[in-house]
Amino acid sequence: MTRETESFDQIDQWTSTMFLYSSALKSINTKIEILNNEFVQLYHYNPIEHITSRLKTPESIVKKLRHDGREVTIENMVEHLNDIAGIRIICSFMSDIYPIADMIASQGDITVLHVKDYIRYPKANGYKSYHMVVTIPVYTRDGKIDTKIEIQIRTIAMDFWASLEHKIAYKFEGNPPENIEKELKNCADIVDMLDEKMFSLNQAIMKLGEENSREE
Ligand code: GTP
Ligand code: MG
Repeated sequence: MTRETESFDQIDQWTSTMFLYSSALKSINTKIEILNNEFVQLYHYNPIEHITSRLKTPESIVKKLRHDGREVTIENMVEHLNDIAGIRIICSFMSDIYPIADMIASQGDITVLHVKDYIRYPKANGYKSYHMVVTIPVYTRDGKIDTKIEIQIRTIAMDFWASLEHKIAYKFEGNPPENIEKELKNCADIVDMLDEKMFSLNQAIMKLGEENSREE
């Protein structure tokens, strides 16, 4: 094979690999939308506030592989990176997180590879979120290909915190000044308190709603 055909071959391989990940994202988005609609129909309640998804850029794929000390190849990226396709599910209340995770995990064609539960075990910096790496089948001319997706589930308040923390970590290349780190941790505690208060307020409202409908 000449150098040139080898490069074309690699570009082809890259394009079809990324096509798999983007198809997997489409498929999981539809799945979650259906689950959400079903939930609304059954319980008249919408557990999902919004969903975002993204494909990792070629630059960050290369950066991550290099950072992990691996050769930059498509095989390595498929085998070792879990978050080439990523989806983030933002819900209103803490109490929505585990039911959503269970609904996803119990889908027949989804396999959960691993879970990191930073809700039950928050990170030292205050980060809270529920992470799952799953595979979902994508059907191609070559047959079924199970494709990895990283799913993050968190509340609006946790998401607000994580996006600020991400900006700060980026700005200070992962080493923020101590006072900023402390303030962030402080904010994480406030987020916790807010999530808890919003949850109990919602419970109280729902209870009132039930009582009123019983009286009618
Ligand atoms: P990488 O962090 O991607 O190397 O993978 P990992 O094996 O450490 O997985 P983990 O589940 O810990 O993190 C996956 C993703 O969660 C990250 O890529 C971030 O998007 C997010 N994440 C994890 N920790 C933090 C954190 O401390 N702050 C913020 N803002 N996001 C985080
Ligand atoms: Mg990490």
